[in-house]
Amino acid sequence: MAVREIVVVPHPVLRAVAKPVKDFGLELQRLIDDMIETMRAAPGVGLAAPQVNVSKRVIVVEYEDPEAGIPHVLYAVVNPKIVRFSKETEWGVEGCLSVPGVIGEVERASEIVVRGYDRHGKPFNLRTDGWVARIFQHEIDHLNGVLFTDKAVNIQRVSPELAAEMDRV
Ligand code: CO
Repeated sequence: MAVREIVVVPHPVLRAVAKPVKDFGLELQRLIDDMIETMRAAPGVGLAAPQVNVSKRVIVVEYEDPEAGIPHVLYAVVNPKIVRFSKETEWGVEGCLSVPGVIGEVERASEIVVRGYDRHGKPFNLRTDGWVARIFQHEIDHLNGVLFTDKAVNIQRVSPELAAEMDRV
């Protein structure tokens, strides 16, 4: 495993529509392992393959909030697709490892159903809500060349120290 470089705006890979994965071989396994290590090193709670300059539809998400009763979860999802968005939405403050020093408020569906494949090609179905649902929506936007700053209001510059304390994705 290796920590890969995280690309930042205005790198064009962040604006490309990432390609579906067809081969679940060694290259994909390496990519996922490296993405998990890169996310942890950042540190962050989610990462999309374009953020490590690989234009493929792969995301990783790792989150926990014991105080809020959210247990530790780690997902690697290949070709993820959100097949259901709740009508109910919520606002939350987001930051992004590829847009350093910037935060903003984004409206997201409160609950979603994600469909995709695990790292071995097994179909994967997940219903999730709250902060984890927000991370998935942010990461899947990355696969479509969309950044949170496209959707955010009250965008603010913050110091690197403050940004580092946030759950960045
Ligand atoms: Co991001």
